[in-house]
Amino acid sequence: MTHYIENYSYPYKTRGSGAVTRTTEKLTGLSRLSHFLVGIETIDTLIERSAVYIRDMLRVDYCRIFILSSDGHYFFKSKQSETVEAVEKVFELVSSSKEAQKPSSLEQVLDIRARELLGLKIRDCHWIIPLCVEQSQVGTLVLAKTNSTEIDAFPPDTYYLVDLIADQLGNAIHRRQLNEQLENSSIEIVLALSKTLETRDPYSGAHSKRLASFSEKMARYFNLSGRETRELCWAALLHDIGKIGIEDSILHKPGSLTTREWEVMKSHSEVGAHIVQDLSGLENIASIILSHHERVDGKGYPQGLMGDQIPMGAKIIAVVDSYSAMTEGRVYKAPRSHEEAILELEKNSGLMYAPEVVNAFVSLFDESDFVD
Ligand SMILES: [Fe+2]
Repeated sequence: MTHYIENYSYPYKTRGSGAVTRTTEKLTGLSRLSHFLVGIETIDTLIERSAVYIRDMLRVDYCRIFILSSDGHYFFKSKQSETVEAVEKVFELVSSSKEAQKPSSLEQVLDIRARELLGLKIRDCHWIIPLCVEQSQVGTLVLAKTNSTEIDAFPPDTYYLVDLIADQLGNAIHRRQLNEQLENSSIEIVLALSKTLETRDPYSGAHSKRLASFSEKMARYFNLSGRETRELCWAALLHDIGKIGIEDSILHKPGSLTTREWEVMKSHSEVGAHIVQDLSGLENIASIILSHHERVDGKGYPQGLMGDQIPMGAKIIAVVDSYSAMTEGRVYKAPRSHEEAILELEKNSGLMYAPEVVNAFVSLFDESDFVD
């Protein structure tokens, strides 16, 4: 793609600093778009935010990105299948014809139904650009300038830029789709493991689901990213997965454990981390599972980590796990009230639990929408 940059920028450099500045602005915008696309977490965000970014960058009046799904159809908000079909036909025509890929006046390519669905006006000059990765189409970019019927509403110096943008967008969509496939298979693994634990220990299954719900609220409180939130919830569901390796006589023992039995029980955090560490997409939750019984005063297990040595996700799970265990009770221990459990958390804040996490957890109960 670099030949476009050379061909475009060289003649303008000799004409004055204004053209050079415009070139620099465009390349800077392109570089920013590239960084922006790398950080995008969902397809929806990519569609919405990239469209605004590109619209401003190219100074067009209209920019929409359409994603082609694996079933060969586009995502549309419209429920009118007839009009969806009309637009899809146009996109298909454009992607198969080099001539149609140039900027055109609407009458030449889009019929009225397609125009309505896309929200374009009659006098708009539009440009439909297929987004491809290695010969496979992943979407379509539609640009338009309002009240402009001339063919050159998009000046030739825009062509190289749009080409590069389409290239970046196509790759970003493809990357995001691959990530979503990986996430979906990770979710399936998490649910399968969670079910396995539930079969082995019904109490742990229900307890873990409650923890995941609390963890999601805590993630929102601490403003964690989408990925961090997802991983925290997965870790909450699987924090005790290592218990599937604990023998029944210890796992289901109704009374207190002996010293040896307690040592066996404590191994569940290491066993759990070991189970998930090699599973694709779950690598990051291994450290949370490993450290969910660490204490901020260093007296926890298995490594005796202190304070900030403990991953944030593990500090959160330590608090919500203890609260849930206290309020749920055990075969050998009556459940405590919400107030008693909160008092216990506050008493051990700075010893067993991170003070910022205890404070956050307690404050969540003050919010009207925080329903356990
Ligand atoms: Fe545990």
